[in-house]
Amino acid sequence: MSGLGDGTRAVRAGLPGAEQGAPFLPGPVFAAPFHLQGEVAGSDWSYTRYGNPTWTRYEAALGELEEAEVVVFASGMAAATALLFTSLSPGDAIAIDQGCYRGVRILCESHLAPRGVELRLAAPQELESAVPGARVLWMESPSNPKLEVYDLAALAESARAAGALCVVDNTTAGPLYQQPLDLGADYSMTSATKHLSGHADLLLGYVATRDPERAQALRDWRTEAGSIPGPFEVWLAHRSLATYALRLERGSANALALAELLAARDDVTGVRYPGLPGDLGHEIARRQMRGHGTVIAFDVASRERAERFLAASELITEASSFGGILTTAERRARWGGDDVSEGFIRLSAGCEDAADLLADVERALAAA
Ligand SMILES: Cc1ncc(COP(=O)(O)O)c(C=O)c1O
Repeated sequence: MSGLGDGTRAVRAGLPGAEQGAPFLPGPVFAAPFHLQGEVAGSDWSYTRYGNPTWTRYEAALGELEEAEVVVFASGMAAATALLFTSLSPGDAIAIDQGCYRGVRILCESHLAPRGVELRLAAPQELESAVPGARVLWMESPSNPKLEVYDLAALAESARAAGALCVVDNTTAGPLYQQPLDLGADYSMTSATKHLSGHADLLLGYVATRDPERAQALRDWRTEAGSIPGPFEVWLAHRSLATYALRLERGSANALALAELLAARDDVTGVRYPGLPGDLGHEIARRQMRGHGTVIAFDVASRERAERFLAASELITEASSFGGILTTAERRARWGGDDVSEGFIRLSAGCEDAADLLADVERALAAA
């Protein structure tokens, strides 16, 4: 479906051709074993850990958006685990952006380092020099939660020159707003728990790659490790894909309006949103992103003020995660483990009316 707009592609992605009397999107296939008589070879469906038609349809849909092979997993972390464990062996090194999602860092520290993988956790400006000699370069742009923007094409080129595999966690941007594979990455990984499913009701993740052997290695890992998604979650996510472009457009417009409001106030500092012309990452984001997403970050000076602000807001739902239809936010330091100040808030703009959100945030800041 090349040449079509994002909305058209998202609405139709992965749908089968018209068949008299059939639904547009066939329902989930619930099966552990399938009928399987005689020889196993040549049968598409045998046992769901090996494959399920509901996953295959969703992978085809995501593959249309990514222009790549897609392997879907039970969560974003299951996708990250598959990538890390299929590409790293004892003695290898991984260069990893120290500001990337804390779950990935914890996974590396708790499970890779003890198995003899060298972790090179690097600050943004040091990431490039950490690559030579590494087997994998792992980065995230815009990063969660600080929204640092990395020059993905330049770093992918450094990885290629050094013989390292380049992985981009594309969760905050998603496939409609950023295409890491086009920028030179070997793999693009996404937590579909966020914008792609969008309704805060399931966990899912996937990896996209244009190398069939790497895709097969990931499928084999999924079968062997059992990190498989449930067909119902996959079907729900496919159903939600139809509104992905709409939700993203609305949430991103709301995020920009909120970022502009926050940046203009003198009781808020450190506003980060790649769509703001004054943002540190704006120029690079303009080159490598087609939209700026729904997530913004800012600082309201102290833990107490952040807590008062969140409690005073009537339209911001206090919760972790992002990318849903409801506007959500949290004081990120409550988790520990991220290099953020006590008053740092990460907010994900939802699909409410912009005027209502702006009025609510102004009211809550004044009350705080
Ligand atoms: C950037 C990023 N990558 C990966 C993950 C992990 O995804 P999941 O929660 O679906 O396992 C998250 C979750 O917040 C994330 O924000």
